[in-house]
Amino acid sequence: MTELDSQKQAALAAIAGATSLEALEEQRLAALGKKGWVSLALKTLGQMSPDERSAAAPAIQAARTEIAEAIEAKKAALEAAELEAQLVRETIDLTLPAPAAPRGSVHPVSQVMDELAEIFADLGFAVATGPEIEDDWHNFTALNMDETHPARAMHDTFYFPDRTPEGREILLRTHTSPVQIRSMIAQSAPIRIIAPGRVYRSDSDATHTPMFHQVEGLVVDRDIHLGHLKWTLETFFKAFFEREDITLRLRPSYFPFTEPSVEVDVGYSVEGNRRVVGGHGDAPGHAWMELGGSGMVNPRVLEFAGLDPKEWQGFAFGLGIDRIAMLKYGMNDLRAFFDGDPRWLRHYGFSPFDQPTLSAGVGARA
Ligand code: PHE
Repeated sequence: MTELDSQKQAALAAIAGATSLEALEEQRLAALGKKGWVSLALKTLGQMSPDERSAAAPAIQAARTEIAEAIEAKKAALEAAELEAQLVRETIDLTLPAPAAPRGSVHPVSQVMDELAEIFADLGFAVATGPEIEDDWHNFTALNMDETHPARAMHDTFYFPDRTPEGREILLRTHTSPVQIRSMIAQSAPIRIIAPGRVYRSDSDATHTPMFHQVEGLVVDRDIHLGHLKWTLETFFKAFFEREDITLRLRPSYFPFTEPSVEVDVGYSVEGNRRVVGGHGDAPGHAWMELGGSGMVNPRVLEFAGLDPKEWQGFAFGLGIDRIAMLKYGMNDLRAFFDGDPRWLRHYGFSPFDQPTLSAGVGARA
């Protein structure tokens, strides 16, 4: 065996025995690298006579090819083995029980908004929306509260520093009543809508939060009178509180945008530490609770919205959603509504699967 042969055999054996890509690379450098023995053998060809060279060259070239091929083959084998090992390492055990995913719940406010939408839909009302960032024309002026109207001070309003291009002040709406104006302008009459949503006032104590929820109702048609308002609210409350003995009391009041205006009270009693709606407020053990404001749409408001008050009349109401939610579901702290405490939500929240929601919740409506 020539020296070249034995070097080649040794190299092929080392290549075959390499257990890693790194070890294989070492073998490649030892043979085919600049200072590898194959390269050195090739260099010796230069000093040979042409005859010697043609005798020696083929064996060296053949050795180079053989070693290069052996390295390529071994490399492919090592890489395949590495991939195989990786696949085995990363096998997923599909029989392991998956950890239970945390399940959210529907907030009582969202739940009640859905209930409102469903009940009023049965009475032929559509759901309307308007922006929470309003201008003072829609929030006040068109509702018959002009620049100097003291009622503007009734709401401690969050104003923005900027104005609209028309020069109107920008504010967080203080009630859902601007949706009345937007609906009348957008769709003219007749109208039958409710508008649930967030409203904002600079107010914060045990029974007031700076953000809360109202639902506005508006009906505009020919020959609408206060009897329609009373029947509508009574029918709604009966369906909402799920009892027939709901008694309403309409108490004279004042709002600039309704004339006449009435406060809507409902009879209730106290059972345990819970207020339960039902019964006549003047009956023994009962009292009246205010749930909202309402009245006949002031003719001036119809005019602001471009409707002829000789042709059209309407009634409007505004109810506190948080308040009726607390009453229906027996909660007594308004602030807990907006703390976002998961324990509270687990207790008072509703399963989206038991009772599919119409509106997908408060957030989806923004
Ligand atoms: N917008 C009034 C409020 O927030 C409620 C209301 C609505 C009164 C519609 C009358 C008619 O207090």
